[in-house]
This record gives sequence, structure tokens and C-alpha cells, in this order.
Amino acid sequence: MKIFIVGVSGCLGQNLTKLAISKDYEVFGISRSLYEYNSPNFSFYQCDAKNKTELAKALKLAKPDVVVNTSAKTNVDACEDEREDAIETNVGIVKNLAELCGSAIPLIQISTDYVFDGDSAPYTESSKPNPQGFYGETKHQAEEFLQKSNCIWSVLRTQILFGNGKNLKADFVSWLLKSLKNNSPVKIVTDQIGNPTLASQLAKGILAVIERKPYNEILHCSGREGINRYEFSLIAAEIFGLDKSLISPVTSSEFKQKAKRPANSTFKTNYSEKALGFEFLNPKETLLAYQKEIETESI
Ligand SMILES: NC(=O)c1ccc[n+]([C@@H]2O[C@H](COP(=O)([O-])OP(=O)(O)OC[C@H]3O[C@@H](n4cnc5c(N)ncnc54)[C@H](OP(=O)(O)O)[C@@H]3O)[C@@H](O)[C@H]2O)c1
Repeated sequence: MKIFIVGVSGCLGQNLTKLAISKDYEVFGISRSLYEYNSPNFSFYQCDAKNKTELAKALKLAKPDVVVNTSAKTNVDACEDEREDAIETNVGIVKNLAELCGSAIPLIQISTDYVFDGDSAPYTESSKPNPQGFYGETKHQAEEFLQKSNCIWSVLRTQILFGNGKNLKADFVSWLLKSLKNNSPVKIVTDQIGNPTLASQLAKGILAVIERKPYNEILHCSGREGINRYEFSLIAAEIFGLDKSLISPVTSSEFKQKAKRPANSTFKTNYSEKALGFEFLNPKETLLAYQKEIETESI
């Protein structure tokens, strides 16, 4: 079984590659920057997935059984200013993939809690999206496009994603731990609530989709409980033996952020846990699993 991963050099792409290879899948990955993974079951093709000709060439070379799109323009504030690129990346790549996969190759798309407004959590898979920023708008457009397509599709919505990997941009947890290790004080918001998600757990969810085939529906694949970022940071400091007194609680009004974000985007996950056949981790379990990964595993 061969998995084609778009965005293989990213946090989720790397974690999915590692898990899939460990379970004897073949992986064919693409991204714009070079990515290497030391396994005879891994192949890489460097290209921009916005370029449909290049994407078609990569798919023709790979002949995959399933496609997973982990690529995205994930800088939420940059999406407000660079709208054309946000549409081309977050919607255009999905349209290209859908056309190339047709009804022959299942297409798994990763989406986000930012499709919701944050006013009526907890959100189930059938809650009505109402994105507040342009990033969420583009991710919602991609969801809607797939729902109307003739593809065999799956949308996995996730949130507060973090994980182990090589040359990754800083995520919330890696930034927090680095700051605390450097004895730098940090201000963390108490009024943004969500389900922190370890990338290797989302990778497990993707493989569960491939194995159990709950296609043509949206699933919430994240940690299993919502928590505010301040409380989550205190747990992280405790687990990693770092100084909690460096963390001060603040409200979002103290930060100027370009894009509007949902305040509370907590997911209900019980439907998806049943569909995917495993229990997701709570925030403390998520951090303990991450600690184990960074202390014992290379990627
Ligand atoms: N991070 C979060 O907190 C979060 C929350 C909710 C949902 N999500 C969703 O989860 C998914 C994975 O996120 P992540 O954190 O793993 O993202 P990431 O680390 O930013 O990785 C994104 C990957 O996509 C690749 N990419 C971007 N544009 C591309 C293009 N035009 N052609 C080919 N590859 C391209 C990037 O590599 P190159 O730049 O080298 O091409 C990178 O490998 C995304 O769909 C995101 O929207 C993330």
C-alpha cells in the first residue's frame, strides 16, 4: 500500500511518514523544500503542489493507493495579507488533487478548528462552520469543495497541532518549552481554549482512515479535551521540570493579532474516536507522549 503525502517536510507530514513506514506502508512524499527519510520504502519528489503539471507528474511517478494532503499555508496572520497565495495553497492544491485523484484514489484532507467562530463550543462534526479569518475561510472552502466532488474523500479537522520533527517551524509547545528553558518569562492567554493535538496521534488517525475507510465524512481528530493555553502551559512546565513562575496569565486583548481566532473551539471527539477505533489523548497524556518522543525517538 503506497501513501502519497503532500507537504511531507512539515510537522504532520514527517510524523505520518515515520508512522506509516513503521507499519510497512510505502511513502511517496512531496514538498517544495527538500526532505530526506532514510528508508527504502520512502521516495521524495521536490515540487510545488500549486503547479498542477508538476503534481500530475509526481502522482504518475508514485502510482499511490491513497493521497493525504498535509500541505497548507498555516500562518494564519499571513493568510489575511497574502490572500491569493492562501487560496492557491489551501483551496487550489485540494482542487488539483481532487481532479487528479477523481473517483479512483481516496483523498484525505486535513482541516482545522478555525472553520468555527468559537461562540458555541463544543463543536461536533455536524456543527455549522462560520470562519472568522481568511485562513479558516480557505480551509472551509476546501472542505465544501470536497463534499460536492465525486472523490472518495475524508476531512480530518484538527487543532493546536505540535510534534517532533526535523527543521520545523516553532509550534506553540516547542516555543513555550524553549522560552522556559532559556528562563524567559512568557505571557499565555487564559481565554483561548482548544484540544491540543500531538502530530503522531493525528498520523495514527490518518492511518485508521486508510485502514477502516470511513470515507465521505468529516471527522474531528485531535486531543480529546479542551483546555485553555495557560493551564496547558502549566502542565507542560510541570512535566518538563521547568519553572512555572515564568508563565503569566493574560487575556487575548493584550495581544494584537491580525486574524480573528475562535476563542473556544473545543471539539467533541467521541464520534470520531468510535469511527477511527481508538481513544484520543487528554492534554496531560498528549504532553507525556510528546516528552517520550523527543527523549527517545529520532525522526
Ligand atoms: N499547526 C496547527 O496548529 C494546525 C491546526 C489545525 C489544522 N492544521 C492543519 O494541519 C495540516 C498540517 O499542518 P502542519 O502544522 O504539519 O503544517 P506545516 O508544518 O506548516 O507543514 C506544511 C507542509 O506543507 C508544505 N507545503 C506548503 N505549501 C506547499 C506547496 N505549495 N507545495 C508543496 N508543499 C507545500 C510545506 O513544505 P514546503 O514549504 O517545503 O513546501 C510543509 O511541508 C495543515 O493542513 C494545517 O492546515 C494545523
